[in-house]
Amino acid sequence: MTQVNKWKGNRREIGEDFFATPKSAILPIKPYIPEGVKTILEPTHGEGAISDLLEEWGYTVIKQDKYPKTDDTIEADFLTDDIPECDMIIFNPPFCLKTEFLQRACESGKPFIFICPITIQETNKRFHLFREHELTILNLPNRTNYMGSKGNKVFFHSVWVLKHPEYKNNILYAEMESKPAKPVKVKVEATVCKGFNKKGKPCQNKVKCGEFCFLHKP
Ligand SMILES: C[S@@+](CC[C@H](N)C(=O)[O-])C[C@H]1O[C@@H](n2cnc3c(N)ncnc32)[C@H](O)[C@@H]1O
Repeated sequence: MTQVNKWKGNRREIGEDFFATPKSAILPIKPYIPEGVKTILEPTHGEGAISDLLEEWGYTVIKQDKYPKTDDTIEADFLTDDIPECDMIIFNPPFCLKTEFLQRACESGKPFIFICPITIQETNKRFHLFREHELTILNLPNRTNYMGSKGNKVFFHSVWVLKHPEYKNNILYAEMESKPAKPVKVKVEATVCKGFNKKGKPCQNKVKCGEFCFLHKP
């Protein structure tokens, strides 16, 4: 029987899935880079959104990507090539391969941090990887609008996934400026006005609060 390639021609087969991570979404991970880390592998370097900040923060970054986009990128497939000597791994994977990247990061045995849709918490396989490796979620206050060729409006929420020597099996909340949440509007049940019309019949106007409508203010 001929094998049907169900991913043929789509994002999963091509797998590049290039979207740049905005700086505002990267800043919250700074306090969660474990002490003593000096060299960080960014295996999905892209155009360097994450690597640039890590270097600014004083880390040495090994920049790899399966589809290099800058002259200083080393061509390497994170899923199949050996992982170079480093203290930890930080990345933004192609989301169509998030399970494979999660599994590979877990297998590396190194601390890691990566951003991805909150749906990373779904599925039996990912549930077991989270539980076995005591992973932690770092939640962000807003949706992350990645920058790609199709614009930057996303319809999903993203979180960072951490394998960290101190923070295990936890949900953390990013220390960053965010708008305070709007108060929840309490829906007042509409009732019928207690007044009477000119013919002396009960007014049927709906009122949101109080007992009378605008025609029948007491
Ligand atoms: C979502 S982009 C992230 C780019 C950059 N890290 C950032 O945050 O702006 C994903 C990157 O992963 C690369 N990539 C896709 N499959 C890969 C693989 N198997 N191994 C390494 N890099 C891969 C793509 O070429 C792309 O540059």
